Parts: sequence; structure tokens; C-alpha cells
Amino acid sequence: MKFMSTAAFLAVASLSIFSVCSQGNSPPSSGCGINGPPSCKNTTIVSNLCCFEHPGGLLVLTQFWDTDPRTGPENSFTIHGLWPDNCDTTFQENCDPSREYTNIAGLLTAQESSDTLVFMQDYWVDINGENEKAWEHAWATHGTCMSTLKPSCLPPNSKTGAEAVMYYKTVVKLFQTLPTYTWLANAGISPSSTETYSLSTLVSALQHQSGVIPALDCSSGVLNHMRWYFNLKGSVIDGVFIPINAPKDGSCPSDGIRYVPKA
Ligand SMILES: *[C@@H]1O[C@H](CO)[C@@H](O)[C@H](O)[C@H]1NC(C)=O
Repeated sequence: MKFMSTAAFLAVASLSIFSVCSQGNSPPSSGCGINGPPSCKNTTIVSNLCCFEHPGGLLVLTQFWDTDPRTGPENSFTIHGLWPDNCDTTFQENCDPSREYTNIAGLLTAQESSDTLVFMQDYWVDINGENEKAWEHAWATHGTCMSTLKPSCLPPNSKTGAEAVMYYKTVVKLFQTLPTYTWLANAGISPSSTETYSLSTLVSALQHQSGVIPALDCSSGVLNHMRWYFNLKGSVIDGVFIPINAPKDGSCPSDGIRYVPKA
């Protein structure tokens, strides 16, 4: 019986992997694989920038903790965006005005990505209620600078905007691997209107569970933003994000940090 149930589990597991890979409307794969060097870690020149993120190989998944006004679920940080910083932490922005798409909700719906849109409506929310503007801004400002998302890197006959759809899907998937709120809560750190924390307490709780050190940003000593850093093997479309320690500190002070409730 034990063997049977293991076999059944394996069958279910491989079935679900199969179905993920074989959806009729599945997004294009990059064809890059993940055997190249991680971005920023190459020791020789890499010529195919469709499969190697450059110059923005220091990828930063940014999250908000918005409390005033509050945005998103009270037990989760929200998505700010994914930024392709240069390996030395300088960065480019707004790299292709001809690809500053509008009506992102319509784009995601038209390109079989309603599930991504539904998640974004809860977790990628603008402090002024202008979600569509926030989504447009993230792509126009940061996504258009990604070398692996150039339209010429996509399969021929890809629809206009398909590379932006890939961006939003990747941001959502990467965000889902970074449950900052839960990691803090697991360490007994929950939002409080009275408590203060040292930076080292917050960082070590997060490092213990994520394996890396994020950068914490504060406004007047109140935690409101978090940056998680990665190098990337392969393409933003379907590569592997390798978590790394933040290469520079955030703006939070070393002591007296407040982490206040959203409610
Ligand atoms: C890494 O690859 C980029 C892109 O080709 C290149 O500009 C850079 O010089 C390479 N780095 C090293 C150390 O060779």
C-alpha cells in the first residue's frame, strides 16, 4: 500500500507538471535553457543577450508595505515591480518609448493571462487606487530595459505586447516566492503600533527563512518598502532567479524601526 500511494503521488505530480507545460495557450518559452552563467557573474563576454540579462543583470523584486492609506491584504506586502539594475547598482529606465503599452488588464486578458491579472488586482495595487497606471509604469520604466524581453527574442508571430505579458507573469511568480509578511510573522514579528525593532532583528528573521539579506526601506523610521535581489540564469521569460544578498543597504535606520499595521 505504501508503494501504491507513492506511485499514485508521483503520477499526480508528473501529471500536473505535464499539464502546466502543455496548456494549449501556454506562453512562449525562450528556448534559452538555464545552463549559461548567472547574470552579472559571467567571466567572458556573452553575446546572446536574449538568454543573458544584460546590462540589467541585478534583478530587484520590490515590495511595498503601504499603511496610510493601506493597500492590499493586511497580511501581505504588495508588489512594486521588478527592476533590472546594472551589476554595479546603477540602472537604466524607460528604454523603449515605442513599447509603453496601455490597457494592461486588456492585454493580459487577451493573451490568456487572466489568472495573473486576478492576482495583480489584489497584490499589485497602487496607493492612489490607480492600479493600471502602476502596472503601465512598471513595464514602461523597468521592463522595457530587459534585454531578454526584446521582441526579437520572442518566437516569430508572437503577439504585440507578449513580452510585457511575460514580464507581469514573471513578477507575480517571483513575488509568490517571497512571503515577507509570513517570514516576519514566523519569527514573532507582527505589525504593531507601539513596538519598535532594530534593523538586525528584522534582517536576521528574513535571512534565516529566505537565505538572503534583503534591503529594507523606511520613511521617517517606518518600514514601507523591501528590495529582494537576484541574478538570473537564462531569460526573464522562463529562467531561474538566484537569490543574492542585497548589494547595498536600504534606507531604514539601525534602530527604532516601526512596522505598523495596515488596518
Ligand atoms: C559579461 O557579458 C557582458 C555582455 O556580453 C559583457 O559586456 C561583459 O564584459 C562580460 N563580463 C566579463 C567579465 O567578461
